[in-house]
Amino acid sequence: MDRYVTGAVIHRLREVKKMTQEELAEKLCVSSKAVSKWETGRGLPDISLLSPLANALDISVIELLSGEDVRNRNRASDMAKSRFYVCPVCGNAIRTIGEAVISCCGITLPPLDPEPADAEHLIRTEIVEDEYYVTLDHPMSRDHYISFLAAVSDHGVQFVKLYPEGNAEARFKIDRVIRLYAYCNRHGLFLAEP
Ligand SMILES: [Fe+2]
Repeated sequence: MDRYVTGAVIHRLREVKKMTQEELAEKLCVSSKAVSKWETGRGLPDISLLSPLANALDISVIELLSGEDVRNRNRASDMAKSRFYVCPVCGNAIRTIGEAVISCCGITLPPLDPEPADAEHLIRTEIVEDEYYVTLDHPMSRDHYISFLAAVSDHGVQFVKLYPEGNAEARFKIDRVIRLYAYCNRHGLFLAEP
């Protein structure tokens, strides 16, 4: 666990639920003074209270700990809202549809913020039969390489993991692809239109 619930989060979520400190305290069988202390950073709820606290605030424990209300706002599963996460420790790459709390190697991973491909990460696309043949002219050495390529359509994600010493290339079914992504382990996530 790399984070614990903070007073600010308890305070904010309690106000969202339009509950008084007394009402929250009653649900948890603690004193309102205890709740007041948590909210002002003069104490922390015991770990045994995390689950009842999350219940009372109507969120999951993981949301409570992350400090974010991460209910999936992308219920329509809009694939264009796919997010990518990469663990800086082990290199694990994870994709989600909409928001999520993702952790790996004990670290809560932020969603990667893609930027338009620059000259060094230009994503080249060629159509070969019914596929996009995607290449980058980019180093593929152990310490600087493209670690994945992905193609996002309005109904799915095609994802290819790449490794150092391999080629920075992948083939994707054309099938309504609207966006291509390339992740460089040093420079981050880049996107382009096919
Ligand atoms: Fe790079």
